[in-house]
Amino acid sequence: MRTTIDALDRLVTDGQRLTMVTAYDYTSARIVEGTSIPLILVGDSLGMVVQGHDSTLPVTVDDMIYHTRAVLRGCTRPLVVTDLPFLSYADEAQAVHAAGRIMVEGGAGSVKLEGGASVGPIVRRLVELGIPVMGHLGFTPQSQHQIGLKVQGKAAHHARTLIEDALALQEAGAWAVVLELIPAPLAAEITRRLRIPTIGIGAGPDCTGQVQVWHDVLGLYTDRVPRHAKRWARLADEASAALEAFASQVRDGGFPGPEHSARMDDDALADAVHGLLGR
Ligand code: KIV
Repeated sequence: MRTTIDALDRLVTDGQRLTMVTAYDYTSARIVEGTSIPLILVGDSLGMVVQGHDSTLPVTVDDMIYHTRAVLRGCTRPLVVTDLPFLSYADEAQAVHAAGRIMVEGGAGSVKLEGGASVGPIVRRLVELGIPVMGHLGFTPQSQHQIGLKVQGKAAHHARTLIEDALALQEAGAWAVVLELIPAPLAAEITRRLRIPTIGIGAGPDCTGQVQVWHDVLGLYTDRVPRHAKRWARLADEASAALEAFASQVRDGGFPGPEHSARMDDDALADAVHGLLGR
């Protein structure tokens, strides 16, 4: 059965920290399905880690629907949250259209959008229509050209705005808020002031839960590991070694062996070849 927001609230009430990981396709979703992680984020980070762009900006609503559908086919248990991509929620009408498509065509259980008090009316409208919304504050990648690629909220006035933004999202009906790249003590303060869960990434240990990007957790990059990420595996190294082993066995004739090949009755082949004589 699909995890509900109520079930997540119960986990929090029982003192459990929430865990969330991004996934963008069927195979990854199947792997998450076999773990205890209750939340999948189909993040617009797919623009970078799947599509190879240098930001999340080129990602479209159609992309998000495509990846959400693939993820949904791979899992029945985690709640799937999908990002509303850049400029898809510039006003309420656009937000309703984009979020509606992501829920109906994609099958997501919630959308996530970036921004604070200024997106409050949009969050409120989506929630009124029955669309669960997760907020996203701090470093918001869709505004990276405005805010820079850096920790947010270090100065007092900025920290205060972030606290007010978090409260505004809660007031508008968001059921959780991602806090990305903000100082740990500020994240702790926001978490203390909110009734809804905070999901941190680069926001210290005192959030209600933590989210990480699939490729970071599994070590799919050897060259870029953000400071806020930890590699729990080194799959890029393992994948390279496996690919080299495949290539070398093909070259030296070790693959495919009899166990990987279909057999055929000698007489059947002889008969087949007989008819071809002279050609
Ligand atoms: O798109 C994404 O992966 C995200 C996480 C970094 C929270 O928004």
